[in-house]
Amino acid sequence: MPIWNWGFLLFVFVSVSSVALSVSDPITQQKLDQVSNLPGQSFNVDFAHYAGYVTVNEESGRALFYWLTEAVEDPASKPLVLWLNGGPGCSSIAYGMAEEVGPFHVNKDGKSVYLNPYSWNTVANLLFLDSPVGVGYSYSNTTSDILNNGDKRTAADSLQFLLNWLERFPQFKGRDFYIAGESYAGHYVPQLSQAIVRYNKENTKSPINLKGYMVGNALTDDYSDHVGLFQFMWAAGLISDQTYKKSNELCDKESFIHPSRECDQIVDIAYEEMGNIDAYSIFTPPCTATGVTKRLLRRWHKVGHIGQSYDPCTEQHSTIYFNLPEVQNALHVFHSNTSRKWETCNNAVNLNWKDSPISVLDVHQELISSGLRVWIFSGDTDAVIPVTSTRYSIDALKLPTVSPWRAWYDDGQVGGWTQGYEGLTFVTVRGAGHEVPLHKPKLALVLIKNFLAGTSMASFDQVIESKTSASEQILKELE
Ligand SMILES: *[C@@H]1O[C@H](CO)[C@@H](O)[C@H](O)[C@H]1NC(C)=O
Ligand SMILES: *[C@@H]1O[C@H](CO)[C@@H](O)[C@H](O)[C@H]1NC(C)=O
Repeated sequence: MPIWNWGFLLFVFVSVSSVALSVSDPITQQKLDQVSNLPGQSFNVDFAHYAGYVTVNEESGRALFYWLTEAVEDPASKPLVLWLNGGPGCSSIAYGMAEEVGPFHVNKDGKSVYLNPYSWNTVANLLFLDSPVGVGYSYSNTTSDILNNGDKRTAADSLQFLLNWLERFPQFKGRDFYIAGESYAGHYVPQLSQAIVRYNKENTKSPINLKGYMVGNALTDDYSDHVGLFQFMWAAGLISDQTYKKSNELCDKESFIHPSRECDQIVDIAYEEMGNIDAYSIFTPPCTATGVTKRLLRRWHKVGHIGQSYDPCTEQHSTIYFNLPEVQNALHVFHSNTSRKWETCNNAVNLNWKDSPISVLDVHQELISSGLRVWIFSGDTDAVIPVTSTRYSIDALKLPTVSPWRAWYDDGQVGGWTQGYEGLTFVTVRGAGHEVPLHKPKLALVLIKNFLAGTSMASFDQVIESKTSASEQILKELE
């Protein structure tokens, strides 16, 4: 492959000659961002991956950290998917990459990684972004930025990130692009999509080819989310009648991120009544090595794969791994302030969060009418932003149903339920908690495949059909 050789020679030449200079040529920077091997990686991978920074604001010195894993097969023909975690303040590397949809998951020893067979980079080029500044490896040279994050700047910086990143990775310009995320990314994903759609209107010559987005267990509408939350807690038998009643009185009209003291207190009581269970996944054991949080969206504890080698403490292994100097060197991590430890979620970012609208239903409405593909999914054993909350939110959109509620199947088993609305598809994932791809990795891969293809989740008939045609195929081959 002569092109590769030339590129490689150029890369060696430029990188040697530009050690002291900042690299101005984006393609050169792309090559410099390539990650060769991760510490504790004892297997080979068939895909290239890249990690580094994109400056989103030069004045303040704000830079966002990304990690791109190309598709395993034929990356040039595959779409680009951006994955975002929430919090606010939680790292997409900690969750998305290291325990959900990414190819590299961290082992128990905190020193090595294993390959996730259900990684979404088996179907797409997968981009992780630590957003906003102060989260994961992302930073700002203006310290006060960390204490002044909010939805608006997060969307604006993320858009700037994409524009600058596409300059460094021009092979993805014009590529089909999708955004997916969960939890507080229920704000980030539609807000960034809206920023892109509006940007595209002004820049018709160089649009970002956004095709759609998907959010799971997503904070959407504070009223619906609160009503659904307490209803779920009560119906699942986790809280008392009295607390159920009280919580509705005190919280229904409150902001999820900035609740009143009274609402906060009744939520504390609700969590106390629940006892030491994992609210993010109510039927799996919590990680007993960590304290239990009572904050709705803050993440301290973790659960592993149900029914598999089970490890509810994954976050702690990531905290060891991503603080290793050799790991940070391999990922080209910049040390703006060496005293800052890498954390799965940055508490300072979370507690100092500024603007957070009480609803993003209007954003969904605008984007649905702009023609984007919009999917909303929900793991149905989550007591943080439960399936009931999401159903109330979708109901508030008042969309006509185009395909009625039904079960969907994988391997002959009910994977969850789905309903098609005009402009929106809703999919639940049975037995999955807040982090659907963590609890049900195989079903989550089926979900993203259908989302990217724009096909509906398999019905029972389809399962039977494909089984029949598969067995007919086998019989034919035997003949
Ligand atoms: C932040 O400051 C450091 C030290 O001056 C500098 O090397 C780096 O490029 C700055 N980052 C950004 C994004 O401006
Ligand atoms: C570096 O971190 C320390 C301790 O967290 C903090 O006091 C200081 O302001 C930080 N400096 C910069 C430039 O971010």
